Amino acid sequence: MFKILITEPIPEKPISFLEEIGEVTVAPKGTYDTEEALISHIHAYDALLCMLSTPVTRNVLEAGKKLKIVANFAVGYDNIDIKAAQELNIKTANTPDVLTEACGDYAMGLLLALSRKLKEAENYLREGKFSGWEPLGFLGMELRDRTLGIIGMGRIGQAFAHRARAFGMNIIYLNRNRIEQTTEKELNAEFVEDLKELVSRSDVLSLNCPLTEETHHLIDEEILELMPNHALLVNISRGAVIDEEALAEALHDQKIAGAALDVFENEPQVHPKLLTAPNTLLLPHIASATYKTRDAIGMLAAEAIEGVLKGKPDSDIPNLIRR
Ligand code: DGY
Repeated sequence: MFKILITEPIPEKPISFLEEIGEVTVAPKGTYDTEEALISHIHAYDALLCMLSTPVTRNVLEAGKKLKIVANFAVGYDNIDIKAAQELNIKTANTPDVLTEACGDYAMGLLLALSRKLKEAENYLREGKFSGWEPLGFLGMELRDRTLGIIGMGRIGQAFAHRARAFGMNIIYLNRNRIEQTTEKELNAEFVEDLKELVSRSDVLSLNCPLTEETHHLIDEEILELMPNHALLVNISRGAVIDEEALAEALHDQKIAGAALDVFENEPQVHPKLLTAPNTLLLPHIASATYKTRDAIGMLAAEAIEGVLKGKPDSDIPNLIRR
């Protein structure tokens, strides 16, 4: 009988699905947040269903003597050493597509909350400071005719762009490759090849790229300097795409007007200077957190495990990571 490890509680549906094909262990949250914990137990398992916070390093994969597949409960997979997995003949899977709409909604929600200072205004009211309507209170940025610069125009970047178009924003983007002409036309989006140009033209800068060696600390002090003073930054990709120290300084010095951050470099820790930065929304990595999406993420990861354990050809498992 196959043994399957799920590193923390997930929705019931994928667990029941996996119980049909093997013995499933669901670990309590936090059990497998370290490499050491995984290394001591992974030898017993045929399949690992892990979180974006699970460090699936080369050492872990080498210790997984029976391991046939690692399925990430996430679309991003910077926590997995994909090269080592390929060398060790262990398949890997992620969960593209199913979280696109939830993340698109969420990015738009963050932008609306940030541009209209909703958090600060609500705090003001709760603190008993609301003394009546005021013409100069909580003035924010109106989105129509503003430019949204998107770094990473994959599925989620495009989902955000569609929503922003509906709010009358102009879209410019930077991506490894230019997107399809039809999509570009539909979004009236302009491909900008130069990061510095994109950043200096953006009223709102959105990060929707994967974390790779090239994107690590892509948004650093030099890039932040190029953002207009009124500009807002939205990040739902990975925290380490930003140099958080530099961002915190830029926010405190009001070199940019605000940031909405769903992700952090050292989750669950948040850079202490971000905690005190003005007009900054800090959220606990919840972009894909809807009932529907989390069920779908779990099922996609579980189906990849089923496919590999049952020996299906790779071509029948669409969400295997092929690089
Ligand atoms: C993912 O799946 O990579 C996202 O970070 C979830 O919000």
